[in-house]
Amino acid sequence: MSFPKDFLWGAATAAYQIEGAYNEDGRGPSIWDKYSAYHGNTRYNETGHVADDHYHRVDEDIAIMKEIGLKAYRFSISWSRVIPEGVGKVNEKGLKFYSDLVDKLIAAGIEPIATLYHWDYPYALHRKGAWLNDDSSEWFLEYTRVVVDALSDRVRYWATINEPQCVLGCGYWGGFHAPFQQAQPCDLLIMGRNVLLSHGKAANYIRNHAKKTPIIGFTPIGPSYIPKDDSAEAIEEARRKTFSTEGEGFTFSLSYWSDPVFLGKYPDELYEDYGDMVPEFTDEEWKLVTEPLDYYGTNIYYSQGGPKGVEGYPENRYQGAPESHIGWIVAPEVMYWSAKFLYERYGKPIMITENGMAEHDWICLDGKVHDTYRIDYTHRYLKEFRRAAEDGVPLVGYLHWSLMDNYEWAEGYTMRFGLVYVDYGTLKRTIKDSGYWYRDVIESNGEKL
Ligand code: FCB
Repeated sequence: MSFPKDFLWGAATAAYQIEGAYNEDGRGPSIWDKYSAYHGNTRYNETGHVADDHYHRVDEDIAIMKEIGLKAYRFSISWSRVIPEGVGKVNEKGLKFYSDLVDKLIAAGIEPIATLYHWDYPYALHRKGAWLNDDSSEWFLEYTRVVVDALSDRVRYWATINEPQCVLGCGYWGGFHAPFQQAQPCDLLIMGRNVLLSHGKAANYIRNHAKKTPIIGFTPIGPSYIPKDDSAEAIEEARRKTFSTEGEGFTFSLSYWSDPVFLGKYPDELYEDYGDMVPEFTDEEWKLVTEPLDYYGTNIYYSQGGPKGVEGYPENRYQGAPESHIGWIVAPEVMYWSAKFLYERYGKPIMITENGMAEHDWICLDGKVHDTYRIDYTHRYLKEFRRAAEDGVPLVGYLHWSLMDNYEWAEGYTMRFGLVYVDYGTLKRTIKDSGYWYRDVIESNGEKL
């Protein structure tokens, strides 16, 4: 068995990482605009104020997608471009940008996949307490309504919140993403409750009000463990760890976010650790949180390491182990095991909503970008994803991260993840070798792998 006929071969981006035009046409500021330029919050105090200037170069970028032969494109919507204050007055120009984007994608034969929230929280609502405020899920619903009413006559594929683990874990627990805070568990649990409720209200609204029959997903991330060997015990151990809230704690865990949505309960470990600090949902709220979804969207990059062994390496590393420029371990089998474990537990078809690697790319003397490692990485990961299909896991699609080099959050512009190279001085785009390789893979529906 290979990739299904209607498999969505695509690429992904996020608004703040590519759009730029941060103060144009009525856009309001997000937490990234406000906080990324100071105190070494980001590696070189860089912002996404210009980024790839996609806002002004959208036609060129769609022409590139067409050249690569993408069948699908996942983008996110900047909440504060659409509603500058987060709630209240809608910025029609901002909304039109996305509506035009959708029209252009469809005209190019590319399926739009819209993510409602990819980390660029409106600063005006941040000042009101953001996710800690119990009105936050209503704010999110209001924003969802505006977007869904405007785009759902053409958009079929929806993702609600990208990597809720990072929303809380990176932004409010570790403090290495905007708003660069470190909150206490009691507050984090309330925020998590509001994020889950926001997801549920959005999914429920899309389901009941979208003009085209929607296909809705949630897009959490790992941890993803690979069994140490083929034994039943090792497989069980990897499965257990994948869904445990131990390790880096509940904000970064998978089950804290996915069990409520897909199984209608928090994981038991959460009660063991926090007892009655865990804020409950009412029955009515549970109904929203568990709004049935159509696919499980997951971003998979690397395998999780276990505790350090004698040599000081975690389980998934060893001397000379391959890692990408950003330091993430290259472990293709994680595609197989994650897809398998996620399908077993949640029973939904799997869409890889992000996968890719940062490399030390540059333009070579011949004017091209020879990114052989990215080709090899993607080849290996895709083969493992296909192996999951051979084992009975239904696959929806694969979206490479990223279409083009972009603003990699706290790393600024130092990490290049694109199939397309961007010269940040001139903003010139150059399709890398991997982009052309991916075109052939898409053309053969994966047969080439
Ligand atoms: C994911 C994010 C995405 C990008 C990649 C490299 O965690 O969703 O925006 O930064 O990592």
